[in-house]
Parts: sequence; C-alpha cells; structure tokens
Amino acid sequence: MCHAASVTSGTILCTGGAGYIGSHTTVELLSAGWDVVVVDDFSNASPVALDRVREVTAGIAGAGRLSSHRVDIRDEDAVAEILADDGVDAVVHFAGLKAVGESVAMPLNYYSVNVGGSVALLRAMDRTGVRRLVFSSSCTVYGDPERIPVDEQAERHVSNPYGRTKLMIEDILSDVAASDDRWQILALRYFNPVGAHASGRMGEDPDGIPNNLMPYTMQVATGRHPFVRVFGDDYPTKDGTGVRDYIHVVDLAEGHLAALRAVDGVKGMLALNLGTGTGSSVLEVIAAASKAVGQDIPYQIVDRRPGDIAATWCDPSLAERTLGWRAERTLDQMAEDHWRWQRDNPAGYRS
Ligand SMILES: NC(=O)c1ccc[n+]([C@@H]2O[C@H](COP(=O)([O-])OP(=O)(O)OC[C@H]3O[C@@H](n4cnc5c(N)ncnc54)[C@H](O)[C@@H]3O)[C@@H](O)[C@H]2O)c1
Repeated sequence: MCHAASVTSGTILCTGGAGYIGSHTTVELLSAGWDVVVVDDFSNASPVALDRVREVTAGIAGAGRLSSHRVDIRDEDAVAEILADDGVDAVVHFAGLKAVGESVAMPLNYYSVNVGGSVALLRAMDRTGVRRLVFSSSCTVYGDPERIPVDEQAERHVSNPYGRTKLMIEDILSDVAASDDRWQILALRYFNPVGAHASGRMGEDPDGIPNNLMPYTMQVATGRHPFVRVFGDDYPTKDGTGVRDYIHVVDLAEGHLAALRAVDGVKGMLALNLGTGTGSSVLEVIAAASKAVGQDIPYQIVDRRPGDIAATWCDPSLAERTLGWRAERTLDQMAEDHWRWQRDNPAGYRS
C-alpha cells in the first residue's frame, strides 16, 4: 500500500445503487458529502428506494447530491457517457444478480449480468480514465472453508454459478489491475448482510418469498408464513444449527465509505472480508428476532438442505487494519432495525 491523497469528496457512481446494500451505502456517501450517481436498471429494486434515500438524507448539513439513470450496466457506451459527463471519481459496483438457486436454473443470465456487466463496466471505466473501483464480492467465494475464522488467504472454492461469477470477476479484476498499475481496486467479500436503516424507511425488499433467514423470520412474525424451517439441528456447531457471520447493512455501508477513503492507497487489487468476526446460529437469530418482535416466532426443525455448510465466520482484521473500520452493531440491533422496517412497510416499498 502506498498512501496517496485519499478520495474524501467528489462523485461516486454506484451501480445497483437502488438495491438493498447500494441504497444504504448511498445514504452514507451522501451524508459524508459525496455526490452520488446511481446506475440501476431497477430489475430488482424500486425507484421508491431512491426517494427514501433522499428523504433520510434531507436536512443533513453538507450532504451531497443524488442523481440516477435507468441503465443496464452491460450498456458500455451509456455507462461511459455517464462516467465522463458526471465527472465520476470512483465506482462502487453493486449491480448484479444474487440468488444462488436461480443461478443454477438460469446460469447464462448470471454470467451475462454479473460477468458480462462487470467487463462492460471495466471497459467503460478504462475508456474514461476512471480506475478506482470498489466491488461487491461475497463470502460465497470460500465455499466450505477449511479453517474458521476464514481469512483472505483461504483457498476459494465455489459450487454454484452465482459463486463462480464472483470468483471469475475477482480474477478479472486481478488481471486488469496487473495489466495497468493505474487501477486501484478493492473487492469486498461481504458475509451475511441483514438489518435496515434505523429510520425504518429503508430496508431489504425481496421479490416473492425471501431466501434468507432474517427476512423470512420477520415475515413469519407478520403472519405471512406459519413458521421458520430450520434446516438441520445436527451440525457440529454450538446448538446444532448452521452458523453464519451476520453484519448490519449500515455497518457494511460504512465499510464502503472507508473503502472509498482507502482505495487511493491501494496498488492493484486487494480483497477484504467485511463481517463482524462472530458467528451466530439459526436459533440465535430466531431468538434475537423474537426479542425484537416481542413474541416467540415459531420454527420447526426439518432436514438439512443439500449444499448448506455447517459454519462460517470471518477474520475481519485485514479490513480493520486497511480501512480503519470495524462492524459495531449487535445481532439484537440487526433484528430490531430489520423488524422496524418490516413492521412499518409490510409490503416493502409498495407499502
Ligand atoms: N445481500 C447479500 O446477502 C449479499 C452477500 C454478498 C454479496 N452480495 C452482492 O452485493 C451486491 C448487492 O447486493 P444486494 O443485496 O444489494 O442486491 P440487490 O438485488 O438488492 O441490488 C442489486 C441491484 O442491482 C440492480 N441490477 C441488477 N442487474 C442490473 C443490470 N444489468 N444493470 C443495472 N442494474 C442492475 C438491481 O436492480 C438492484 O438494484 C450484489 O452484487 C450481490 O451479489 C450480496
């Protein structure tokens, strides 16, 4: 790492900035004074999310300006035009498809949007001389890790097309960075983002039945499903149920702020784990959610789900040292904030 002047103000392009993690990050960026340009095709997001971003940042002294474009990231010319016209200093690349099961059924969509979209974005950035990038990678690149906590040196193995797209993009980013030392790239390997903005005005808005534990559990609390299915209680973990590293989405958003401040000191491409470094079991998540809701959320133990791993959590120390950032919010806060969003917006942004 060399420490040149860091990006502390200017214009950030957020691809996928209307999505769950992108919208929360946009709030943090605007609040810190950056101008933000969102590029999103709204295939998995509502424009209302950006109205809410404006709402929660209104009145913050010194907040940056928000603009948005309905554009598919695979449209290289359109993205290049935005990068040049809006005077973009750095890009945070969230846009992509993220459902593992769907990626098995529709692999070509995943390779096209995730890999093809990233290549188009990189070409547009190269053409316009914008070579600072923060990329949304995932703990999925570690598969079933040999050692826990998992650090960035761990071998990467993936078992589904979604994970393979993240691994391929990381390799593309390394190759691009190696080809031209003007690139400065951070690939952030997120663990399990949950929670919502503390205002209750923004949160995850899954289309249909959510795949993830916290949103599903909260929908059980509202009566949309009868109980939570717990897939296996005979894993070699503290209570037999699967263990994951849940991170509050606002901590994750703050991690991106820190990454943009640090990216100017990065030489080439660096991958960093963003997690809390603590594992919570499925039963602990249901207990935290029950406490937040104020009633016991029913669950039933069912068979293990093929492909699930027993446990993973991260060693976040490299991110802490590199970014001067640490996830602070507890599982109880994650559940409280998630519940406030779910309770006040039972139909998400359509409420
Ligand atoms: N949520 C998680 O659990 C998690 C974990 C690890 C990594 N990630 C990664 O983080 C990123 C953001 O995840 P999220 O949870 O906010 O997902 P999300 O679906 O809420 O956000 C993705 C955004 O990208 C947009 N998008 C999709 N295809 C596009 C295209 N072709 N052109 C322009 N925009 C497009 C969607 O409309 C959406 O707003 C993704 O790359 C995801 O793979 C997410």
